[in-house]
Amino acid sequence: MNETLIRWLEEREIADVRSRNLELAKAFAMVVKSTDQVFDLGCGTMSNFRYLDPLLSMNQNWIGVDHDPGMLRRSEPLVPRTRVQLREMNLATGVRTLPQGPGCAFTASAFLDLVSKEWIDQFAAHCKDSPILIAMSTAGQPEWSPIHELDEPIRLRIKSHQNSDHGFGPSLGADAACYLVDQLRHYGCRVIVRETNWILDSRDGTLLSMMIDGIERRVQSVQDPVDAQVWADRRRLELLKAELRLTVRHLDLLSIP
Ligand SMILES: C[S@@+](CC[C@H](N)C(=O)[O-])C[C@H]1O[C@@H](n2cnc3c(N)ncnc32)[C@H](O)[C@@H]1O
Repeated sequence: MNETLIRWLEEREIADVRSRNLELAKAFAMVVKSTDQVFDLGCGTMSNFRYLDPLLSMNQNWIGVDHDPGMLRRSEPLVPRTRVQLREMNLATGVRTLPQGPGCAFTASAFLDLVSKEWIDQFAAHCKDSPILIAMSTAGQPEWSPIHELDEPIRLRIKSHQNSDHGFGPSLGADAACYLVDQLRHYGCRVIVRETNWILDSRDGTLLSMMIDGIERRVQSVQDPVDAQVWADRRRLELLKAELRLTVRHLDLLSIP
């Protein structure tokens, strides 16, 4: 089990809860019927369930789907087993095997930016007749304040990592949410989109510090690396002095058939 990933998910859950769009979540809850099965795609430790379930009628059965068995084991004690089933599945190949149409609702959080254009085409075609809530899709590059001369080269390398293959083919990364909106509208769905940006400052010290570490590691490992250590050391100092602020663009989208 990747403990760093688990700690990352725990920290990001706090920022996600603060940033998610409650209006869209409530609208999703209104259209999901009490007899529907709710599929949480790329469920991780079920943070999406923790956010949404209190808004629903609490009768729905949930299916949390993830390809990582360690992650699913970690989720088991965190969810009511009477209503939540955890299913190990590789969604890169399995999305068309999920049930579809009336009786189903689909949701995901912090997942869509991993997938490819072809995957979104399949997902939209398969799930268009059900309510869909896709939350916290990355929709841009980190914007740091104060600025640093290495921000731009680092942004370019993060973008290239975002657009690499995360198991679904070349990823659409920050463009994934807008592409899904277009596909669902093409099928006549009513789609509403809201910005759900993270605005982080020294109160989010652990998450910011994990982001700095992660960017430093990632930027060293891509082709044509920049020396991110100078950049990361400066950011750590600014964080220590409570001078650092970061905006990370995200989108939530709701689709109603
Ligand atoms: C950034 S995490 C988000 C987890 C959770 N939804 C949350 O908001 O905390 C992305 C999740 O997608 C899962 N995932 C990645 N590729 C997958 C695949 N091919 N099939 C199923 N799940 C996958 C990962 O295991 C991970 O749990």
